[in-house]
Amino acid sequence: MPTLKIHHIGYLVKKIEKAKKTFEALGYLVEQDTVYDDIRKVDICFLVKDGYRVELVSPVSEDSVVSGLLKKYKNTPYHICYEAEDPEAAYQKLTENGFAAIDTPTPAPALDGRNVVFLISPVIGMIELIY
Ligand code: NI
Repeated sequence: MPTLKIHHIGYLVKKIEKAKKTFEALGYLVEQDTVYDDIRKVDICFLVKDGYRVELVSPVSEDSVVSGLLKKYKNTPYHICYEAEDPEAAYQKLTENGFAAIDTPTPAPALDGRNVVFLISPVIGMIELIY
């Protein structure tokens, strides 16, 4: 497996402004204020603490990709995002190791338009790969 580096932990929240304030109270600093992702219909904000980056994701409309997840799981961390020097090789290896892509690499406005793809493992659930 090519080396994967953790980029962020994705955290699903219903109320992004209140969630941001709560993370700030825990000592996190806002790294990138709320950006609207019009492809996934979610608001996204990044905070950092102790070298960890948390991504707050909040659905803006009922047909957002995460509306169903939020209903089912409430406020919760729900994915870890990885980056790799050679994303294509990493993607190949992941699929050989039981991960199945649930979408295709799609630009992420909150990540300066870099492509991301989500994959599911039957053993550990969802991950995201910057592609
Ligand atoms: Ni993410």
